[in-house]
Amino acid sequence: MSAVSNDGVHLESEDWGDELKPGTDLFHGQYTIERHLKSGGFGITYLARDSLHRQVVIKECFPEGMCVRPSRAVRPRSRTYGAGVATLIQKFIREAQNLSRIDHPNVVRVHQVFEDNDTAYMVLDFIEGRDLGEAITVNPLGPDEIRSALLQLLDAVAVIHDRGLLHRDISPDNIMLDDQRRPVLIDFGAARDQKPGRDRPRSTVHVVKDGYSPQELYLQGGDQGPWSDLYALAATFHHLIAGEAPPNSQTRLAALAMGSPDPYQPLAGRFDAYPPTFLAAIDKALSVMAHARIQSAREWTALITGAPAPQPRPVLQPKAPAPPRPAVIARPAAKPPLPLTRAAACVAAVLALGAVILATV
Ligand SMILES: Nc1ncnc2c1ncn2[C@@H]1O[C@H](COP(=O)(O)OP(=O)(O)OP(=O)(O)O)[C@@H](O)[C@H]1O
Ligand SMILES: [Mg+2]
Repeated sequence: MSAVSNDGVHLESEDWGDELKPGTDLFHGQYTIERHLKSGGFGITYLARDSLHRQVVIKECFPEGMCVRPSRAVRPRSRTYGAGVATLIQKFIREAQNLSRIDHPNVVRVHQVFEDNDTAYMVLDFIEGRDLGEAITVNPLGPDEIRSALLQLLDAVAVIHDRGLLHRDISPDNIMLDDQRRPVLIDFGAARDQKPGRDRPRSTVHVVKDGYSPQELYLQGGDQGPWSDLYALAATFHHLIAGEAPPNSQTRLAALAMGSPDPYQPLAGRFDAYPPTFLAAIDKALSVMAHARIQSAREWTALITGAPAPQPRPVLQPKAPAPPRPAVIARPAAKPPLPLTRAAACVAAVLALGAVILATV
C-alpha cells in the first residue's frame, strides 16, 4: 500500500510510522480510517468515516515513548512500560467520558470512546476548518474577531472548570477555527497529568509547551488549577495580538528569582486597536506567579465586558463511572509571594526538569 504524507511525500508501505493505515476498520467495522492527521506525544489523530459515512475524527491513545505497534495492536515497548501504558489508557477513557458530558459550542463534541487494538479510541466531531496556529499565518483574526473569540473560549473554559476539569494544553494548535471562524477547543490533556514515576520513565513525559505553559506545569507537583489554563489561554491570545508567544515561563521565573526584570513585554500600551483594559487583562492572566493571575474565566470575562465580577461557583465533580481524581481547583483567596529562597529552589527544579524534558524530546 502507498499513500501521500501530509507534506506531499509519496510513502511506500515500509515508510509508514506507527499510525494505522487508510482502510483500517475499527470497533467491529463501525469506523474506517481514511487518513492520518497527526501524531503527537500521547496520541495519533485520524480522519475517519463512521458506518453512516459521516466524517469523524478519531484519536488513538498511543503514548509514543512507551508503545510500539508490531502489527495492528499496540504493545508496551517493554515490560517496564506495561503498567504505565495501562494507566494512560484508563486515563484517556476517563477523560473522554468527562469530556463527553460537556455540551458547549466551543468545545469539540465527543461521540464515543471504545477499546480496540489493545488501546483506546475517542470519536470526535470533525471540525471543518483549520487550527488557529495555521489560521493565523494564512488569514489572521482582526481585533473584533479576537475579542469575540476570547469571550467564547472563556465561556467554554468556565464550563470546563465548573466540572472540575482542566484542559492543560491550551495553545493555538489546540483550537480549531471552524468554517464560520468560530473557535473550538480540542485536544484535552488526556493523561497529561502523568508525572514521572517508577513505572513511567521521565523519557516518556511530554507535558509542556514552551511559551504557552505556565511555570507550574514544568514542576512535578506544581499547583495546577484554572489559573494554569488561563495563563495558556492568555499566551495564545498574546500570540494572536503580538504575532508571537510570550517568553518561556521558566525563563521568566528564573529572571525574577535572580532579581532581573521579567522579559515579558506587557501588551497594554502597545496595541491601539484594543481597549487598554482588554490588553491589561491578558497581561494579568500571564503573571508568572499563579496568585497574581486572574483566578477564574468568569472574572476575566467581567474584566472584558465591564459586568460585575461573578461569585465563585461550587465545582461540579465529574460523575461515575469511576470518577477521576478531580483537578485541584479550589484555591485559597491569595497566597503570599514566594520568598526568594523558595523561588530559587523552584527555578532549580524547573531547570532540572526542563533539561530532562529537552534531553529527551
Ligand atoms: N475534531 C477535529 N476536527 C478536525 N481536525 C482536528 C480535530 N481534532 C484534531 N484535528 C487536527 O489534528 C491535529 C492534531 O490533533 P490533536 O491536537 O488532538 O492531537 P496532537 O496534538 O497530535 O496530540 P497529543 O498532544 O494529544 O499527543 C490538530 O492540530 C488539528 O489540526
Ligand atoms: Mg494538539
